Amino acid sequence: MGRGLAAAFADGAVRRQDIFVTSKVANGDQGYRRTLDKFEGTLRRLQLDYLDLYLIHWPVDGQYVETWRALEKLYRDGRVRAIGVSNFDVQRLQVLLRAADVQPAVNQIEFNPLMQEQAMRKFAPAHNITVEGWSPLGGGKALNNPVIALIGQKHGKSVAQVILRYDLQCGIVTIPKTVHEQRMVENARIFDFELDDQDVAAIAGLDQNQHALWYDAFGWYGSDTDFGMATQKWPDSTPDYDA
Ligand SMILES: NC(=O)c1ccc[n+]([C@@H]2O[C@H](COP(=O)([O-])OP(=O)(O)OC[C@H]3O[C@@H](n4cnc5c(N)ncnc54)[C@H](OP(=O)(O)O)[C@@H]3O)[C@@H](O)[C@H]2O)c1
Repeated sequence: MGRGLAAAFADGAVRRQDIFVTSKVANGDQGYRRTLDKFEGTLRRLQLDYLDLYLIHWPVDGQYVETWRALEKLYRDGRVRAIGVSNFDVQRLQVLLRAADVQPAVNQIEFNPLMQEQAMRKFAPAHNITVEGWSPLGGGKALNNPVIALIGQKHGKSVAQVILRYDLQCGIVTIPKTVHEQRMVENARIFDFELDDQDVAAIAGLDQNQHALWYDAFGWYGSDTDFGMATQKWPDSTPDYDA
């Protein structure tokens, strides 16, 4: 990524201020000192001198408040333009809000037609926290949905475009991923149509409140699993080497 960005800046394809770069502290890198150290490595490998947004990837119990202290320092020092969290539930966000000097700007959580996070969508805006939705297309699996396909036909839009437009109308910052240029263009063309109340109600009705996709594939995260325990099974860390 760092090499790609450096090349794009060098040949004038984009300027730094035209792009928005987010990174996160991995689960195994949390705590005050380690977060600060790891941040330096991330920035060096990206070949950037600031990030636009830096997140705590997951609320590792017993550590996330200390990790937040490090993010506050990075924010105050001007190393990041905004700081936030990811995968926080309401309870842990309340703990963080009580401890924080700088309030989180963002909570990045799974948001797609099967998982519409009603509780967080009420809580976050009341605290000026923007909800950012990861896996908005359900990792691709939401693209087969017949209800959304019908809405797409009505508007002359693809299923992906309808889902992303729904996110937008719900006030969710949506971050679809694709490796195909054509799909990137398609996913950005959502500002020239509007879903009506009927469409919105139909998509809202698809919510199953299930972390449907990612976690199930690992077989260790379900409705009966303690939320904070998940980190013990996913103790990942950002490598220190510069590839
Ligand atoms: N904070 C977290 O814990 C967390 C967890 C998971 C993901 N995320 C982030 O969320 C972002 C997106 O998540 P995601 O990649 O899991 O899922 P996603 O964006 O919901 O889905 C990506 C899949 O949809 C396909 N796709 C994208 N646009 C399409 C289109 N217009 N038509 C047909 N297929 C299309 C992609 O295929 P192709 O690439 O082949 O086009 C890929 O298979 C990423 O930036 C990821 O890092 C964050």
